[in-house]
Amino acid sequence: MKITVAGTGYVGLVTGVVFADLGNEVLCVDIDPDKVDKINKGNSPIYEPGLDELLQRNLEERRLHATTDLAGAVRQSEVVFITVGTPPTPTGEPDLKYVDEVARTIGASLNGYKIIVNKSTVPVGTGDRVRRIIEQHRVEPHEFDVVSNPEFLREGSAVHDTLFPDRIVIGADNPRAAMKIVEIYAPLERPMLITNLPTAEIIKYASNTFLALKISFINAIADLCERTGADVVQVAKAMGYDTRIGSAFLQAGLGFGGSCFPKDVRAFAHSVQRYDLDATLYEKILAINDARPVQFVERIAQRLGGLAGRTVGLLGLAFKPNTDDIREARSLEIIRLLLEQGAVVRAYDPVAMPHVQAMYPQITYCRNAYEVAEGADALALITEWNEFKQLNFERIKALMRQPNLFDGRNLYDPQRLQKLGFYYYGVGRANGNELTKPEDAEGI
Ligand SMILES: NC(=O)c1ccc[n+]([C@@H]2O[C@H](COP(=O)([O-])OP(=O)(O)OC[C@H]3O[C@@H](n4cnc5c(N)ncnc54)[C@H](O)[C@@H]3O)[C@@H](O)[C@H]2O)c1
Repeated sequence: MKITVAGTGYVGLVTGVVFADLGNEVLCVDIDPDKVDKINKGNSPIYEPGLDELLQRNLEERRLHATTDLAGAVRQSEVVFITVGTPPTPTGEPDLKYVDEVARTIGASLNGYKIIVNKSTVPVGTGDRVRRIIEQHRVEPHEFDVVSNPEFLREGSAVHDTLFPDRIVIGADNPRAAMKIVEIYAPLERPMLITNLPTAEIIKYASNTFLALKISFINAIADLCERTGADVVQVAKAMGYDTRIGSAFLQAGLGFGGSCFPKDVRAFAHSVQRYDLDATLYEKILAINDARPVQFVERIAQRLGGLAGRTVGLLGLAFKPNTDDIREARSLEIIRLLLEQGAVVRAYDPVAMPHVQAMYPQITYCRNAYEVAEGADALALITEWNEFKQLNFERIKALMRQPNLFDGRNLYDPQRLQKLGFYYYGVGRANGNELTKPEDAEGI
């Protein structure tokens, strides 16, 4: 099948490459000529495990080509996937200008029946909006259908997730269009759910919002654990054994970042309000999450007696391991707070440093975790990359000015570090910190 994928970011490029690998002829379109150039040379503009290899194979076999010419690509294709960004506006609503732009070009380029598949994450009702835009810009009255096919891949395992998705959701008003999309995905042999457009659009936001809710929930529990001498890691573990709850997304820590969860929960809250419904639940998920970096930096400041002139080393900057993506990464807010309070910041990340360097040139970027530890008053784990799992803490302790370890992801064994002579802080772990008694505890 001839397929156009409009937008070659994390979703578009990985989707395009996988569709090509399944034997389709794929045109990957982007407005950024540098990205297009890189793709055609077999160098992925984004870091995703396994992507370069798959890209090169499909370029060699001539099943994939990148271009900036969307109109030309649309004319040659039966199916056009929209995979452009939907970044948040300052109010938190998703900015649909890229989707609109692509829809206008599709409308103006229609030269026969086509299926337009929206894969970008968009509020309920956007399928109808795309349909109207295409109708308005159509030069000749060619038929077309709009389908919603939300994407659930995770950055860092995008290729794997695209090859083995938990489910494929196809929202379409016309069964003929739905079946064509089923045909594309059939070789993956994964569960498919065919539904109407608004249902598919809501499934995406409801899924992400629920995962974010789990994270904020366990972080709220972590606060209570810290005050009572309980250990949130064990609370979460025991909760997770309950098959009705499950252990995924139940890790207390610095909260969620990235290009999806924060933006999608905000967007969902706006959608809900547009239909005159109460968005308090969704706003609370965000409020709990926003407080995490502030609280973490407060803990460091408390321990060091203020941050002015203190050196804080950060391990990891990407919003999660195995990606170079720093969009809404917790590291950015933590760096901002540390610098605001006068700290000297050193940092290391296996792949994300260049992106952070562009925003914060004033911090020291190191070659590895040990260099970060040199002369540090506190070391803070921000992103749980594999290479931080087995550090030589004796060596780290010897390099630091003071052995203070702040574990933002509850990666380490508190007792082991305490035995080595570290002050250890883990989120929601008893930590030997001062406990706060409830008001009515006096006099019992
Ligand atoms: N990144 C994820 O993990 C993920 C997961 C699921 C869903 N999503 C959703 O998928 C969508 C895309 O996300 P992403 O992370 O791939 O975005 P991205 O920002 O990485 O990529 C978007 C690409 O679209 C290109 N673009 C913009 N306007 C264009 C136009 N008119 N024609 C052609 N290309 C154009 C940009 O240059 C960019 O390369 C978003 O709605 C996002 O919420 C993302």
